[in-house]
Amino acid sequence: YTAALDANDLGKGTYPYYMLKEIDEQPAAIRRIIQEYQDDQGQLTIDSEIIAAMQASDRIYIIGAGTSMHAGLVGQALFEQLNGIPVEVHVASEFAYNMPLLTEKPFFIFLSQSGETADSRQVLVQVNELGYDSLTITNVKGSTLSREASYTLLLHVGPEIAVASTKAYTGQIAVMAVLADVLANAQGRKLDFDMETELSLVANAMETVVDDKDHLHEIATQIFTDVRNAFYIGRGLDYYVSCEAALKLKEISYIQTEGFAGGELKHGTISLIEDGTPVLAVISQKDTAAHTRGNLEETRARGANTVVITMEGMERQDDQIVIPAVHSLLAPLVTVVPTQLLAYYASLDRDLDVDKPRNLAKAVTVE
Ligand code: G6P
Repeated sequence: YTAALDANDLGKGTYPYYMLKEIDEQPAAIRRIIQEYQDDQGQLTIDSEIIAAMQASDRIYIIGAGTSMHAGLVGQALFEQLNGIPVEVHVASEFAYNMPLLTEKPFFIFLSQSGETADSRQVLVQVNELGYDSLTITNVKGSTLSREASYTLLLHVGPEIAVASTKAYTGQIAVMAVLADVLANAQGRKLDFDMETELSLVANAMETVVDDKDHLHEIATQIFTDVRNAFYIGRGLDYYVSCEAALKLKEISYIQTEGFAGGELKHGTISLIEDGTPVLAVISQKDTAAHTRGNLEETRARGANTVVITMEGMERQDDQIVIPAVHSLLAPLVTVVPTQLLAYYASLDRDLDVDKPRNLAKAVTVE
């Protein structure tokens, strides 16, 4: 069973927590995004002014905080690989005070679920003063970042209430995937896959994952009970998902978690591995799979409790979490879902308030 998406629904229905409902809504949210960005002929479409502004730019700067910044990392791969435009991703609070040298024709993308994050807004104010074009991708129509940017694209994923962001992360990636696809068309770059079809397959794959809750709960209980530290590792897109997976787990379970680049582990962090330390590897990219497996093995040899999250067609016999195969560029949309559920169950097992973790706010409107 997966939740339908009702854009006006502010209740949690029969769900114990909003977070679980919002995780479950993701397949419907992806389908909604496809629908919202389709023209009458069923073709993916984006406001032509946005496409023209992006085509005219020589570099895209993606700005965000927290989970939104992590979605930006996946966006970087999409725009660089599908559009051939260099991309930089920046933490908003850093960019605001340490602005890098900009290229001649920068284009700014602000990612913000709420559209109210003060750190991001501070950058937008500067970008506006400099007279550069900007696009806000947000879940909230009429929000500050939407009003003050040149353009807006909405997520259409329905209200996100849980402090830990889930469907906004996948929604942001899906909207950027649509944007990259439409831009590629405008650039005359022929993609070797159909974005709409691949996004639909993503929605189906997500459904399979959210239907696997009991299994994921079991794994969470097995590896996270009584531990104080955990690690997610991966390379490339899998590394970006590892960063988000680690943030999700630490936010709501208070287990100190790091997302780490698989190859970098041996240069310091591996000293932290003890008997029973959970190390979870995200492995969805064929060219780096063997290397990440090697890195995971190194931690296992030092006592780590290892878990593999991988994709059908690349799995080995003992892999614990195997998602249905999807296009490798879109894999983050699906590999992140089991990590959301693992975080949810870790928090639940500890009797914590999943939706309202201590010290955190849904939208941070101070710098
Ligand atoms: C807060 C929330 C995070 C969120 C971040 C950015 O810190 O607790 O979950 O990722 O703000 O929020 P935004 O609304 O800009 O995406």
